[in-house]
Amino acid sequence: MELKLKLNFILVTSNRRGGGIMAQISLNDIFSKYTSKKPIFKDKDTLSIRFTPENIPHRSEQINQLAHILAPVLRNEKPSNVFIYGKTGTGKTLIAKKVAANLEIVAEPNNLKIIYINCKMRKVTDTEYRLLAQLIEFFGEKVPYTGLPTSELYNRFFRLLDASRQNVVLVLDEIDSLVDKIGSLFLYNLTRINQDLEKTKITLVGISNNISFLENLDSRVKSSLSEEELIFPPYNATEIKDILTERSRIAFHPETITDAAIAKCAALAAQEHGDARKAIDLLRVAGETAERIGSNQVREEHVDIAQNKVDTDRYIETIHSQPKQSKIVLKAVLELYKKNAKGIQTGDVYDLYAKICQKNNIKSLTQRRVSDLITELDNFGIISTVNISKGRYGRTRKINVNLSGTVVSKIEEMFSKEL
Ligand SMILES: Nc1ncnc2c1ncn2[C@@H]1O[C@H](COP(=O)(O)OP(=O)(O)O)[C@@H](O)[C@H]1O
Ligand SMILES: [Mg+2]
Repeated sequence: MELKLKLNFILVTSNRRGGGIMAQISLNDIFSKYTSKKPIFKDKDTLSIRFTPENIPHRSEQINQLAHILAPVLRNEKPSNVFIYGKTGTGKTLIAKKVAANLEIVAEPNNLKIIYINCKMRKVTDTEYRLLAQLIEFFGEKVPYTGLPTSELYNRFFRLLDASRQNVVLVLDEIDSLVDKIGSLFLYNLTRINQDLEKTKITLVGISNNISFLENLDSRVKSSLSEEELIFPPYNATEIKDILTERSRIAFHPETITDAAIAKCAALAAQEHGDARKAIDLLRVAGETAERIGSNQVREEHVDIAQNKVDTDRYIETIHSQPKQSKIVLKAVLELYKKNAKGIQTGDVYDLYAKICQKNNIKSLTQRRVSDLITELDNFGIISTVNISKGRYGRTRKINVNLSGTVVSKIEEMFSKEL
């Protein structure tokens, strides 16, 4: 009813200025595509990252291993800590959550508490204080937003943990970003805590996309966190195709998606280190594209269009989630790239980076740290760097920007708002 009123309003107001019929026809066109055509999606939510599928092909080994590692909680014994790693979209979060959920079903209600924290979440894990406050809130106690000494928070957490006899499993997903933000002292404290607890045992499950994360940790934290290690290898094209076929059965109406389109999504995602998330994103966006164009079937050409959009969105999202310093480094790179696309060197980036910091009253990092941030941007695929020797002047790195014009202008827009 409300929609009709609005449409009439558009018609009336724009009629006075002329061109009103056009407005009516094009709107009707758009909406009738949605009402007259058979819909493509049966349940689009099943293609969102929040959805947990019932069937999980090609991961039974990892599921079994993790289940065996954590099963001792069912006998009130403490399991080993586990470190899980593998590239993005290899199913780490899915499997950790699935195994945890099943454990919770089987365990005696009061004997097991599983706490899942995604360390990439802003506000929750930006400081040691926020993280401890969050943990305390899991046990039902409120903590003021700021103001207490951290040691007091540790004491409260400790008291709550040990209040009754139980096993606590703390899943720290994207744990590397936690250490980036607050250092590794928190992990050190956590790995030592069992020595002082009388009734409770706490087990850590750390998850990371970054394989070298462990190497940079204090050796005691490292050995404690990785008592057990689980590796999630990338999926190949066939495995991704199985995952997509399974998922499209619940996401799409029968025969609204072609095998060729599924195979193409799988092939593209397999090229990108076997990333199931990318594959599912492609499938969803290809479906939306087909729907928008008015096609009654998702075909290969819709996947091509989806590929462009998904890539753009991912770069933007990755860059958006970077810390400010990293954004400034990228801003410097992009400004140099505009002037001279071929000759960007790390030294020039640093100089410009320092200038931008000064102009914005931001404390600049050392050349060494900026060099690390450049490596990180390289790891994300945003830029690529090659080492070159400058003879007796040492070495430098030459930088290439891997972003399309569209992505660059979107990023510039983002930076002009944020920086
Ligand atoms: N074996 C699988 N079967 C079904 N869906 C999967 C499988 N592996 C990953 N997915 C899906 O792919 C996406 C990415 O998985 P996720 O667990 O978030 O990856 P990671 O945590 O390793 O980055 C999610 O939507 C997940 O449901
Ligand atoms: Mg994950």
